[in-house]
Amino acid sequence: MPTISKKGQLMPQSPIRKLVPYAEQAEKMGKSIYYLNIGQPDIKTPKIALQAVKDSTIDVLAYSRSEGSETYRQKIASYYLNHDIQIHHDDIIVTTGGSEALLFAFGSIMDVDDEIIIPEPFYANYNGFSTASGVKVVPVISKIEDNFALPPIEAFEKLITPKTKAILICNPGNPTGYLYSKEEIEKLAEIVKKHDLFLIADEVYREFAYDGNTHYSIMQEAGLEEHAIMIDSVSKRYSMCGARIGCLVSKNKTVIATALKFAQARLSPPTLAQIASEAALETPQSYFDAVIEEYVDRRNTLISELQKIDGVKVAKPKGAFYCIAELPVKNSDDFAQWLLEHFSIDNETVMVAPAGGFYSSPGVGLNQIRIAYVLNKESLIKAVTILREALKVYED
Ligand SMILES: Cc1ncc(COP(=O)(O)O)c(C=O)c1O
Repeated sequence: MPTISKKGQLMPQSPIRKLVPYAEQAEKMGKSIYYLNIGQPDIKTPKIALQAVKDSTIDVLAYSRSEGSETYRQKIASYYLNHDIQIHHDDIIVTTGGSEALLFAFGSIMDVDDEIIIPEPFYANYNGFSTASGVKVVPVISKIEDNFALPPIEAFEKLITPKTKAILICNPGNPTGYLYSKEEIEKLAEIVKKHDLFLIADEVYREFAYDGNTHYSIMQEAGLEEHAIMIDSVSKRYSMCGARIGCLVSKNKTVIATALKFAQARLSPPTLAQIASEAALETPQSYFDAVIEEYVDRRNTLISELQKIDGVKVAKPKGAFYCIAELPVKNSDDFAQWLLEHFSIDNETVMVAPAGGFYSSPGVGLNQIRIAYVLNKESLIKAVTILREALKVYED
């Protein structure tokens, strides 16, 4: 048989999806599952976005411009202005989800064997994008005891080598729910300027900031024009994960010109989804107010229920819709699989994401899980009850 590439063999399996066969088997056996493992919101997509596609009168579903349609980019620039982020529409490249924006960013600024420093735990697919780009992830550990705040800047500095090209943060964080403060962004800005690095910020959860905290974007930080690359997406903002629309934003003209070449190679982002995403920008603030209220309510319920379980440690998220919980188990991979295969209450069980895959330091986070609070409050309470009862009988 012809051989598979080393890169292909090294590509990590998604920790979020690898338990799917066990979940399918459990469902075949008639069990219902509370899916807490994946960030697919149950929130309705704004009607205005879906209607725009239904109303569209185009008779040739053509390619759009590689950088995305001009009107859409102009409207995104206005959306950013409303968030106190001043950019021109030429600073934006529309991509097939935030995922493609990350791939374009990696491809534009890093060569094989270059290094990128990422606070961990981090969005698991950063491992996949790095492997695909031949780039080495250098993790800097953030701790559950600190709520996953930014590690001390000296910890970053120690890791910088001649091969370091960038620091990547996710703000607010998946899987931590941590929201970086303006002061933390300023510390990062200083270090990237000092060592002439790029700062990539994945801000796909921008709207999901709780408890009166406001999101501070790297694009608001003066003096970072040549260093900052922002990743964005409509997936979570408008519960439009299937649209596959995101964008890469930078004031660095060379970065944009380079990313555009990657964009040209794949021709165009999806045309109908750009129509939906453009219309989604008209979504009223009341939609977000209701969504945020719902997530805060869910978060509060989830955290207080988890805190009632003996031996469970949890960091209270300030944004996004995930939390990391530390369990009194040795290996959360085994525990998550056991939940699906061997445990249920009234024929119901829970699917969680083992957190080991959100770390790249071997052996770290093995007793942690990530929970996505994308289910309603009643379901969350039932799901945590199942977890609690399961932990009483589980043996490592
Ligand atoms: C932190 C983060 N970044 C990027 C993405 C990619 O999103 P998409 O490609 O759907 O825009 C996700 C999806 O879950 C995410 O959680």
